[in-house]
Amino acid sequence: MKDRIEELQRKISGFLIENATQLEQFRIAYTGRKGAIADLFADLKNVAPEDRKSVGALLNTLKDNAQARFEEVKARLEEQAAAEGQQAPYDLTLPVVPNQLGARHPLSIVRERIIEIFERIGFNVSDGPEIEDDWHNFTALNFPPNHPARDMQDTFFLEKNPDVALRTHTSSIQVRVMESQKPPIRTLSPGRVFRNEAISARAHCIFHQVEGLYINENVSFADLKNTLYHFAKEMFGKNTQIRFRPSFFPFTEPSAEIDISCQICSGSGCNVCKHSGWVEIGGAGMVDPNVLENCGIDSEKYTGFAFGMGIERITMLKYQIKDLRLFTENDIRFLRQFTAQG
Ligand code: PHE
Repeated sequence: MKDRIEELQRKISGFLIENATQLEQFRIAYTGRKGAIADLFADLKNVAPEDRKSVGALLNTLKDNAQARFEEVKARLEEQAAAEGQQAPYDLTLPVVPNQLGARHPLSIVRERIIEIFERIGFNVSDGPEIEDDWHNFTALNFPPNHPARDMQDTFFLEKNPDVALRTHTSSIQVRVMESQKPPIRTLSPGRVFRNEAISARAHCIFHQVEGLYINENVSFADLKNTLYHFAKEMFGKNTQIRFRPSFFPFTEPSAEIDISCQICSGSGCNVCKHSGWVEIGGAGMVDPNVLENCGIDSEKYTGFAFGMGIERITMLKYQIKDLRLFTENDIRFLRQFTAQG
């Protein structure tokens, strides 16, 4: 009997349990009600009465060990199963949720397009500070000291130092270019500008401009017209018409306001063009000789033209956006609409 107990002990120790199936096999074969251990207990009655106590004790130890091993392995397997269970909610075979990419802002799309059009005809891009001094924003551009555009109504000045202002147009960049470069100059100045205006569907205190400047010998008004005509056709389509209306800017003479044929009604009259068939996109003119001289350029030798356009305006016309405030609200539903058209 003792031999059988020892043999069973060896078998039990050598039995490999690595999963739930093997654990169940172990239970059935050894620790269960009809297992080998129970068989030995049944045979105990055949053992000589004087040995029964010691054999019984051996058998009990065997049973306790086997049961302990069973419990221990069972607990370990349950723990493993629980750990795997935590990963179960992820189905690694599912397709990935696509990343939501940001969209380019319509103003950026249009600014890049404007730059692209002018770069092809030889313009470079110049930059300058948004916080300007009086000279670059006004004086060099031939604004008389009492010109209404210097009024607090239009310009954000620094209270403690009225020589410091937020630029009201990117013409200030052109002054910097003329001061530091020699003609021929063909440059485009895009940038943010600031004016003290109430925010509405058509006006904002912060907006964007692109201004252009061409200075060379014998530059004429016809060059200006052709350049802007080329731009209008590239930007809005080849059937676009362009028209100049006489106007005034301190830094150009003669000066004009530029209209293009209405993109919405093609000239037949609608709300956007106020039934005139034309919409304004900016101002232009021949650079005033005083401005050239202020910037150290010989006005006897050189002439030039300049133009300035609002990027918001052009974007609104191109995409038929009715309210300028949409540009700064950052509503993703609005912004997403322009990626494909970039
Ligand atoms: N600087 C003018 C403005 O901001 C636009 C302009 C530029 C007009 C160049 C004529 C020539 O309104």
